[in-house]
Amino acid sequence: GSSAPQVAVIGTGYVGLVSGACLAEAGWRVACVDQVEAKITKLKAGVIPIYEPGLDEVVVRNAEAGRLTFTTDIAEALREAQIVIIAVGTPTRKLDGNADLQYVYAASRDIARSLKHYAVVVTKSTVPAGTGNEVRRIIERENPGLDFDVASNPEFLREGNAVSDFMKPDRIVIGTDSARARERLEALYRPFTDQGFELISTDIISSELIKYAANTFLATKVSFINEMADICEKVGGDIGAISRGMGSDKRIGREFLKPGPGYGGSCFPKDTLAMVHIGEKALSPATIVEAVITVNRSRPHRMVAKVVQAAGGSVDGKTIALLGLTFKPNTDDVRDSVAVLVAEQLVQKGATVRAFDPKGMEHAREMLGDAITYCPTMADAIGDADLCVLATEWEEFVRFPLEGYREALRNPILVDLRNVFSLEAMAEAGFEYHSIGRTSIQAPLPETLARSA
Ligand code: UDX
Repeated sequence: GSSAPQVAVIGTGYVGLVSGACLAEAGWRVACVDQVEAKITKLKAGVIPIYEPGLDEVVVRNAEAGRLTFTTDIAEALREAQIVIIAVGTPTRKLDGNADLQYVYAASRDIARSLKHYAVVVTKSTVPAGTGNEVRRIIERENPGLDFDVASNPEFLREGNAVSDFMKPDRIVIGTDSARARERLEALYRPFTDQGFELISTDIISSELIKYAANTFLATKVSFINEMADICEKVGGDIGAISRGMGSDKRIGREFLKPGPGYGGSCFPKDTLAMVHIGEKALSPATIVEAVITVNRSRPHRMVAKVVQAAGGSVDGKTIALLGLTFKPNTDDVRDSVAVLVAEQLVQKGATVRAFDPKGMEHAREMLGDAITYCPTMADAIGDADLCVLATEWEEFVRFPLEGYREALRNPILVDLRNVFSLEAMAEAGFEYHSIGRTSIQAPLPETLARSA
């Protein structure tokens, strides 16, 4: 039979590339389309423009098997496609905080012009409730008389875990408004449902809202535990014990109860803002989500205050080692990373910041320029620094021996914004140690003084 692609994915960004590659892995012939020629040229050569563990293997394997192709020619990609997936970006619109849908609408117009047969046009990009209907109107206007359906199919990929999140999903959500579209999408995901993965089939608006509900709820868990951690610091108590104690209630769940510098990345900040706008527009405010954003916005300032306190009241003239720039480990993404904001504010307060991140240095440089020093290794960053701030829980930082930290630093002072070390270990190793929602450990008295005391 034909070897033309069965599925076309528009947009080779994060979501598009992962979805395209994984659908090919599931056995479909997939074309990934992008307007940017340079991206397609690179992808054809097997060069993956994003850092995502395991993705390169899936891309290369399926490209070599002929199931995964890359093209700038949308008409060619759509020639026999049964399903067209829109996976372009929906960034926050600077003007008003709404999700910017211009790329979704442009993709809809391009699809409409190229489509000559029945297909299901699916939005995978995170889009506000009602966008599916807008996509439908655009296609009807551009290509009157075309037989097609629209559908929603949000993704729940975590950066750093995207391939396994796609291949082994907690659930697949599809939103459709016709039996024909539903059957097509059920067929698309049959390789997954055959393995027992759950598929939730609903209407289009509900499907669009599920994505926002899930992400804003997770962000709520994070802001909630961060607020509890702040209270712990004032009244005593250990946030780790509280997370365990709460989380082992099955109705609450253990995950996303790790305190830290606040959530960042390309999804939570954007989706919480968009959720608030959806509520405002509907005259039904998302009050809880508003509070979640407020709590998260106060985090960078609090983190900086913690560092200033650890530095004895001022960071002016001090050299600070900053470990971690990305918003979480195993990604090179520094978008809305609290570490970057903390670096900026420390510099403003007169500190010299010496940073190291295993993957995020290049992107951080695009944001911070020469305001901070980018060290080639972790050891360079901590060498002779007045104190060390751990902002992202990269394995490399967690594994690094405590004696190594102590020998490198001018003073054994560690501000740990991710609670990766135990209080006992830090006390034993003789550190002054400040973390989140736990008692601080002050520097032990020098031995001579301790003896005379
Ligand atoms: C998130 C969702 O998890 C995913 O389902 C969705 O598709 C996209 O958005 P991602 O942005 O990759 O994924 O990161 P995630 O692992 O969810 O972490 C988000 C932020 O919350 C990070 O800054 C992380 O450090 C922080 N976080 C997470 C905490 O501070 N504590 C936690 O317990 C969990």
